[in-house]
Amino acid sequence: MDTTTIVTKTRPSIIVENVQKTFLLRHTHSFKEAFIARIKKKKISTSFQALQDITFTIDQGESVAILGYNGSGKSTLLKLIAGVLEPDGGKILTRGRVAGLIEVGAGFHPDLSGRENVYLNAAILGMNKAEIDARFDDIVAFSEIEEFIDSEVKHYSSGMFLRLAFSVAIHVDLDILLVDEILAVGDAPFREKCRLKIRELVEQGKTMVVVSHDTKTVQDLCDRGIVIKKGVKVFDGPVAEAVEVLKHP
Ligand SMILES: Nc1ncnc2c1ncn2[C@@H]1O[C@H](COP(=O)(O)OP(=O)(O)OP(=O)(O)O)[C@@H](O)[C@H]1O
Ligand SMILES: [Mg+2]
Repeated sequence: MDTTTIVTKTRPSIIVENVQKTFLLRHTHSFKEAFIARIKKKKISTSFQALQDITFTIDQGESVAILGYNGSGKSTLLKLIAGVLEPDGGKILTRGRVAGLIEVGAGFHPDLSGRENVYLNAAILGMNKAEIDARFDDIVAFSEIEEFIDSEVKHYSSGMFLRLAFSVAIHVDLDILLVDEILAVGDAPFREKCRLKIRELVEQGKTMVVVSHDTKTVQDLCDRGIVIKKGVKVFDGPVAEAVEVLKHP
């Protein structure tokens, strides 16, 4: 009998199965318009299928790019994986702690200070007070916004939001990191710092899903690319090929 054990690295981290997401698009703005439309028996809304029958599995330690043009459904997909949205059909399973950087300022309370928001966000990501206390200085140091940490975040710039949110996300013990376009609002030095950090996390075996229009960054960070076109998955394979599919559909 062969005694060598083969350690397979294929442990699923994210399973997306036949996922559908439909949104209602409203065509009226006021009560009066809605009333008239009703009398005239005109539709006041139509449904719009943002994602159609999406299926894929991402294994632990994979770094995957989601590519597609504006409105193709990338952010919707990330929100579904993050659990911010519920699918209308199909199912999504994730293993471990998911940290999502999906919208600039999402998860931040405008009237609280940066400091308070760090505690709030880290608590939402499952850290207790002692853990946050221990990492607080590192979080602030990585963000480089020490000076503004006690200001209300409603006065923060987009880049400052990003800095703090990214910093909190990477200092929790995450298993899956979801990053939407928001890195684009960072300045060049900070983007570079984030890129190196993401690399480091990938090397540690964390699962990464990155949405970006920057094909260069994406090819640098990810091995695999999934291309979505108008809500339909059209390609899933090596990232360089995915970029080609995106450019030459
Ligand atoms: N809450 C919502 N209500 C109605 N329609 C929505 C909602 N969220 C997204 N959509 C629609 O779903 C489609 C996909 O949007 P999504 O934000 O996922 O695109 P995207 O691929 O992230 O685009 P971008 O590259 O511009 O960020 C768009 O047509 C959008 O208008
Ligand atoms: Mg988007």
